[in-house]
Amino acid sequence: MQIDIVTLFPRMFDGPFSESIIGRAVECGVLNIAIHDLRDYTHDRHRTVDDYPYGGGAGMVMKPEPLFEAVESIRAESTMVVLLTPQGRPFCHKIANELSQRTSIILVCGHYEGVDERVRGHLVEDEISIGDYVLSGGELAAMVVVDAVARLVPGVLGSQGSTEEESYAQGLLEYPQYTRPSAYRGWEVPPILLSGNHGEIAKWRQEQSLDRTRKRRPDLLGPQSDLNS
Ligand code: 6GU
Repeated sequence: MQIDIVTLFPRMFDGPFSESIIGRAVECGVLNIAIHDLRDYTHDRHRTVDDYPYGGGAGMVMKPEPLFEAVESIRAESTMVVLLTPQGRPFCHKIANELSQRTSIILVCGHYEGVDERVRGHLVEDEISIGDYVLSGGELAAMVVVDAVARLVPGVLGSQGSTEEESYAQGLLEYPQYTRPSAYRGWEVPPILLSGNHGEIAKWRQEQSLDRTRKRRPDLLGPQSDLNS
């Protein structure tokens, strides 16, 4: 999978994609991530990427020309172009899954008070937000999206079973996990997990998942499921 990121702050991406699971995927070639400096697509001496809003008001707006030129020079036929903005659709496992099926995506990091509306109307196909709060820019959001998407790309994780059992893939939160020692400071691991009875263990885990989801995230169980449980 090819992931291209268009940003005003390319150095922000120095760390996260060279570590851990994503780092390994990039190293072994399953994933290619390219960072593009939006200022490289300007033509003036000051490398201007923003300007005052028509109609007045506070803040600056990202100019359309560098964004159009950057995306048009990067994109292939089937590339999905996504803008990271607090006004986008709320990011979730389902969207991560959809994006992971594409062979290439371009993530455009929004900034300032926003981007010229023509970018929205005529350049990007989708807009994503990672939650109901405002970040200084789309960069951290792009990193979140890349991480969530990349681990669903076949070959990125060691064993393929591992994403399917996870929280959200099943629509439930994960059950409690324990490792050795079996007693720590007097706190014991639930005996069922030491029983060796795999049927009972699976049943217990399912109940725990459901219980935890009811308590913490009843919204995941569907509309109004929290009323009668
Ligand atoms: Cl994608 N961008 C910004 N600037 N803030 C956000 C966001 C994105 N998602 C949540 N807050």
